[in-house]
Amino acid sequence: MTESEEGKCEKMGKVKKRGSVLVFTGAAAVVAITANLAITAFKYRKEKNAKKKDLAGSKVRVNLSASEILKLADQIIANSNKVHNSIASVPLDKVTYANVISPLAELQAQQFPLIQSCVFPKLVSTREDVRKASAEAEQRIDAHLDACSKREDVYLVIKAFAVRGEWMNAEAKHFVQILVRDFERNGLNLTASKREELQRIRAQIDELSFKYIQNLNDDSKFLLFNEAELAGLPPDFLKGLDKSENGKLKIFLRSHHVAAVLEFCKVGTTRRSVSGAYGNRCGEINVSILESLVQQRHKYARLLGYSCYAEYAIGVRMAKTPKKVFEFLKDMSTSLTDLAVKELDVLKDLKKKEEGEFPFGIEDLPYYVKRVEEQGYDLDFGDIKQYLPISVVLSGIFKIIQDLFGLRFEEIAGADVWHCDVRVFSVFDLGSSELLGYCYLDLFSREGKYGHTCVLALQNSALTISGARQIPVGLLISQCQKDADGSSGLLRFSEVVSLFHEFGHVVQQICNRASFSRISGLCVDPDFVEIPAQLLENWCYESYSLKLISGFHQAREMLGLPILEGTNPASYFPSVVIGYEAVCYSRIWSEVFAADIFTSKFCNDVSNQHAGMQFRSKVLTPSGVKGPLEVLSDFLGRKPSIEAYIRAK
Ligand SMILES: *[C@@H]1O[C@H](CO)[C@@H](O)[C@H](O)[C@H]1NC(C)=O
Ligand SMILES: *[C@@H]1O[C@H](CO)[C@@H](O)[C@H](O)[C@H]1NC(C)=O
Ligand SMILES: *[C@@H]1O[C@H](CO)[C@@H](O)[C@H](O)[C@H]1NC(C)=O
Ligand SMILES: [Zn+2]
Repeated sequence: MTESEEGKCEKMGKVKKRGSVLVFTGAAAVVAITANLAITAFKYRKEKNAKKKDLAGSKVRVNLSASEILKLADQIIANSNKVHNSIASVPLDKVTYANVISPLAELQAQQFPLIQSCVFPKLVSTREDVRKASAEAEQRIDAHLDACSKREDVYLVIKAFAVRGEWMNAEAKHFVQILVRDFERNGLNLTASKREELQRIRAQIDELSFKYIQNLNDDSKFLLFNEAELAGLPPDFLKGLDKSENGKLKIFLRSHHVAAVLEFCKVGTTRRSVSGAYGNRCGEINVSILESLVQQRHKYARLLGYSCYAEYAIGVRMAKTPKKVFEFLKDMSTSLTDLAVKELDVLKDLKKKEEGEFPFGIEDLPYYVKRVEEQGYDLDFGDIKQYLPISVVLSGIFKIIQDLFGLRFEEIAGADVWHCDVRVFSVFDLGSSELLGYCYLDLFSREGKYGHTCVLALQNSALTISGARQIPVGLLISQCQKDADGSSGLLRFSEVVSLFHEFGHVVQQICNRASFSRISGLCVDPDFVEIPAQLLENWCYESYSLKLISGFHQAREMLGLPILEGTNPASYFPSVVIGYEAVCYSRIWSEVFAADIFTSKFCNDVSNQHAGMQFRSKVLTPSGVKGPLEVLSDFLGRKPSIEAYIRAK
């Protein structure tokens, strides 16, 4: 998967597109109302589908009809309004934790899984009417949450509480500070006229961003090639392609098609035209949209008192300041330039040998990186694919996660799902058998399904008013291809890497034990959220794990594989993702710190359970009260550093 795609999916699932789902600004559940809501929802499904099992402790509702989705969205909004109004009505001198903060936290915890129940079918439902209803529901909910985030009455009440500083504990304090910060980043502490201007600019930014994203999503362009032009691509990939009337094969400008062409296609001109067209999807979007966006963002940041948009965007992240980011990038590039030049020379030579005197472009990277590895180690990646049936990869991943982090996955038969391919797992603590959470896997690509790979939080860890802990629920969406005969598919190595990565997110979501939904699981510092996922990628380069995931074909040696360590399966497509402005460094930032963790704790013993359990308890489980740097330092026993990454390269 590519950097840009992932950035996007994380926007959607975690930080959520246009900040909607996770930017809860308000609202506290009058518990009874939410409970009612849940009960109504529950009845619905019981009547309709009595055989399906409900997952104890999960409020997530799956396979809703279009009308159920819209109805639920309206209920969510009505309930949220009620709670917000009730909080706002508390006189400023009467604010307490119990009448302001607690109801708000409860609302967020309760409504999150319901909101996600409305929103995620847009990505995965097999029915067009459901996907449409889901998108419509998302718009309504977005608009509502947006309005909540601008409620001055609610802000004043929360601010009054924060100023009094009667904290329950450190985590509650952190939570309240985040609430205040969210409001103030929306300009709620500015004068009325400035705030108006800010909101006007925000509306323009949203509209421009929306247009930009819509243009990309609406792009269903494809290129046509004959088989000779696609030489090198695996036969089963070719078999799966649609054909045009004149028998040519369609390569859609979607990541899984484009990635396969760039990795496998021997024909330089094909790689170039696909890469060019893919890159162009963004170029085509009127550049003026981007130009206006940059201007509006700058104005926005200035109004809020920041010197530039980068300062505004980075201020809430692990890196903290643009200066720190520039230093980081400079250090990295100084240390890696020589190496990069050498590596590039090797690739250029190889291209000259294979294709003659053509210039080497970025579109040649994936293919020739792969060729160099094949040559050096006498491997054929087409063959390796034979070794990686998805079922074997999955059980390998489960085994690694179990051995490292002490988590046991157990499949639930007969759970409610939206497609018969979807599988549901309970996740238990291996030692105590405590149920930690649930995980849905929707692995195979199909018509109408979201075209990228990502993890969505469906329900977050939270401590409810009753004192019970709400358990997390996650959903992994990927694009594996099924075999032509409909049986379980085989995975390319890069797809295996991508699954490991996504399972890192799943583990983080499931292990987290935060008390507040707003700061739980994947709703953490975006510079930090990629670290566990990047870390887990390392295990698929290790012979240890390859033995597990290729157990089925162990007869043949796979000696060469550990060399893949240090190869970078990440992005080859430098396309601009709108939500990534000013924070493009983030991917490499998390990669660097993941490398540090791997090198210092697991490199010599990839099955180091002690380190795995420490990582779980010190990094994954905590609530985010401590900053990411502190958490990592606590785990490493020193400050994180870029040395390990440089050395590994
Ligand atoms: C508004 O809040 C921001 C962030 O907390 C702070 O930096 C700024 O000084 C505040 N502005 C006013 C006018 O109080
Ligand atoms: C954007 O599109 C408009 C209308 O299609 C065109 O007039 C304008 O020149 C384009 N601007 C850029 C920067 O491409
Ligand atoms: C989802 O619901 C529809 C109708 O409500 C039903 O026909 C279908 O079988 C359900 N899908 C699954 C996988 O349970
Ligand atoms: Zn990720």
